[in-house]
Amino acid sequence: MEGVKNSSFCFVLLAFLFLSTGNVMETNAKVHYHDFVVQATPVKRLCKTQNAITVNGMFPGPTLEVNNGDTLVVNVVNRAKYNVTIHWHGVRQIRTGWADGPEFVTQCPIRPGGSYTYRFTIQGQEGTLWWHAHSSWLRATVYGALIIHPRAGDSYPFQQPKRETALLLGEWWNADPIAVVRQATRTGAAPNVSDAYTINGQPGDLYNCSSKDTLVVPVDSGETNLLRVVNSALNQQLFFKIANHKLTVVGADASYVKPFTTTVLMLGPGQTTDVLITANQAPARYYIAARAYASAQGAPFDNTTTTAILEYKSAPCPAKGSTIKPVMPTMPAFNDTATATAFTSSFRSPRKVQVPTKIDHNLFFTAGLGLKNCPPGASNSTCQGPNGTRFTASMNNISFVLPSSYSLLQVHQQRIQGVFTTDFPANPPVTFDYTGNVSRSLWQPVPGTKLYKLRYGETVQVVLQGTNIFTSENHPIHLHGYDFYIIAEGFGNFNPSRDTSKFNLVDPPLRNTASLPVGGWTVIRFVADNPGVWLLHCHLDVHIGWGLATAFLVENGIGELETLEAAPADLPAC
Ligand code: C2O
Repeated sequence: MEGVKNSSFCFVLLAFLFLSTGNVMETNAKVHYHDFVVQATPVKRLCKTQNAITVNGMFPGPTLEVNNGDTLVVNVVNRAKYNVTIHWHGVRQIRTGWADGPEFVTQCPIRPGGSYTYRFTIQGQEGTLWWHAHSSWLRATVYGALIIHPRAGDSYPFQQPKRETALLLGEWWNADPIAVVRQATRTGAAPNVSDAYTINGQPGDLYNCSSKDTLVVPVDSGETNLLRVVNSALNQQLFFKIANHKLTVVGADASYVKPFTTTVLMLGPGQTTDVLITANQAPARYYIAARAYASAQGAPFDNTTTTAILEYKSAPCPAKGSTIKPVMPTMPAFNDTATATAFTSSFRSPRKVQVPTKIDHNLFFTAGLGLKNCPPGASNSTCQGPNGTRFTASMNNISFVLPSSYSLLQVHQQRIQGVFTTDFPANPPVTFDYTGNVSRSLWQPVPGTKLYKLRYGETVQVVLQGTNIFTSENHPIHLHGYDFYIIAEGFGNFNPSRDTSKFNLVDPPLRNTASLPVGGWTVIRFVADNPGVWLLHCHLDVHIGWGLATAFLVENGIGELETLEAAPADLPAC
């Protein structure tokens, strides 16, 4: 305890010195201190009580609210029986990679009984982000909103909303999620799908034993409110609608967008969407609903619907009771890729932006599933995937394996040999018809811990290409440590001679998670201006476990401002 106090005291001094130099933070920037106690907590959902892992006994966890430019100091104490880390999803972590959080990437896990203090500053991001556990499947219950208001004194680039509500979409199992993933790892089969989706932890009226706790979002006739929608589900892209109301999208992944109006949102896990809603309908109650966008043909998924209620305060009294049902929106079909695409392709930056045009690294990464043949001598019970195989996944045919006794960032900083190599290929090892009928001989990737190295300041383009191996599906691809421009997306195989003409180099959206279309491709660009080791992965937890990931190693540049900070003294050891 003493050590913790001392180090935060030192930090205040450092922050003060930093503030007094006045070069990055505004003098009115604040430092927010929080304690997160990770602990088992009885949570009752769907008529049953689970001992869920929570932060501070809350499900979802605490909402953090800051202004752009502020610093967060979060002391995480692990009182649970599992290893844990916390990731601040979408925070750029400029020079503070040690606070990013993915287990065995930027830190070793916080062991039961251990603690670690995450310190980082929000720089140039405004809108909605979130935080979540980044260890096994703990994020099923360990997550919360991270709301970034404009710098003190600044306002939104849109009408000031009357109220603001964060809506976190989640996924709930009638089981310990860690047991669910462990069973799948043992058998090699796909893990069980969830039993419910939730909005701010509540499944809503369409599930057993849930209606009395359904989330109610109050509105007053005529007012315009801001909803911050986050897909914090583990494994499912979700459609989101509110009966009879239009939504004006104004931001996503903590970047503003050119406002556009829609009746339906689609978010992949990891993505956030800020929308304005005007209460211009008859005073009554309307369902806010979310259910799956399930793009993989024939794959099992949770086909239930979670609801909350948008309730006009002036709604006639009987409407407020349980006698009159709220109005239900018509949801898109589960496989409605046209609606998903119309939505994701509507995003633009608010104005012309500086997209890198001279590209130093032209990369082409395939992303998809695979099937591993049953290892010789292995018992059938460990090969319960299709036709006696085990499920796997890869990028450029490499199924990413995390180290278990170091973090990649430590290995990089301390120049430890033999843990990873930096020969992740810039192109797939074999060219094939990625979205066609893929030969069985190409279904089995090679396990490896291969990173792709970038010099500080280099410019990168990645064509993310989905594959049809086993099945094609939509993948939410997330990059740590960066926001990137999504300059184009399409279906089929990316064809440079045809598709470069579709690049939007004027006002593409800035995101941290791209929705890779089912059987299609997405092109992203960024400048490698943040030194460290940064995971690039599918945000479906089932896929990251199977290896659908790689990492960029970005070297230090010149001078302190282009150099990763020193590792904090309390960084957990492996
Ligand atoms: Cu939101 Cu690597 O994760």
